Amino acid sequence: MKSTIIAPSLLSADFLDLKKAVDFINNGASDWFHLDIMDGVFVPNISYGFPILKALKKQSKKPLDVHLMIVQPERYIEEFKKAGADILTVHYEACTHLHRTLAKIKSEGMQAGVALNPHTPVDLLKDIIQDIDLLLIMSVNPGFGGQSFIENTYSKIVDAKNLIIKKNTKTLIEVDGGVDDSNFRKMLEAGVDALVAGSYIFGAEKPEEAVKILKSSV
Ligand code: DX5
Ligand code: ZN
Repeated sequence: MKSTIIAPSLLSADFLDLKKAVDFINNGASDWFHLDIMDGVFVPNISYGFPILKALKKQSKKPLDVHLMIVQPERYIEEFKKAGADILTVHYEACTHLHRTLAKIKSEGMQAGVALNPHTPVDLLKDIIQDIDLLLIMSVNPGFGGQSFIENTYSKIVDAKNLIIKKNTKTLIEVDGGVDDSNFRKMLEAGVDALVAGSYIFGAEKPEEAVKILKSSV
């Protein structure tokens, strides 16, 4: 059985000791770096930007999974490629011309992701799913780490899985927000492929143990 992709969110790491977080991801069982970019407009918070990404890219041995919580993300696609993004995820709610935006991301040589806010139904992706490499289901309202998991997420994972099977695409399903040892099993059963976790991993006494728990099969 394939193991779950684990993407620790650096938003919960110690910003004065990012090297420690990088080494932890590079040398442990984690699969991707999850990097949250916020603009203070799409979400009510501002995180970090290109200089941090570029610095991380120099040291990272694993893919950078970049989650854009910004308006008009199409303006910055080339810039994020230059900064080192491997997977670039835009929010459905932030894109008027989603098809064009995904094509642009791919033309830059990145994998294209689409994120859904908790209120946005999976059904809205039925005519674009074939162009999505990663479907990111938000299990909290985006903007902050450490929030509690929204229970409706399980049925959205099932909806996503059904759509992917029906359309016969290779889209991966990722869940982000409030992920911990109390909810990951039910998400695996529903069909999740990748889990983002910030506070659960970086707040743990033994972060590597937390990664291993999330990676364990049902
Ligand atoms: C929230 C971000 C998440 C966040 C997850 O807007 O997209 O990636 O860092 O943090 P936890 O796991 O603490 O909910
Ligand atoms: Zn995120």
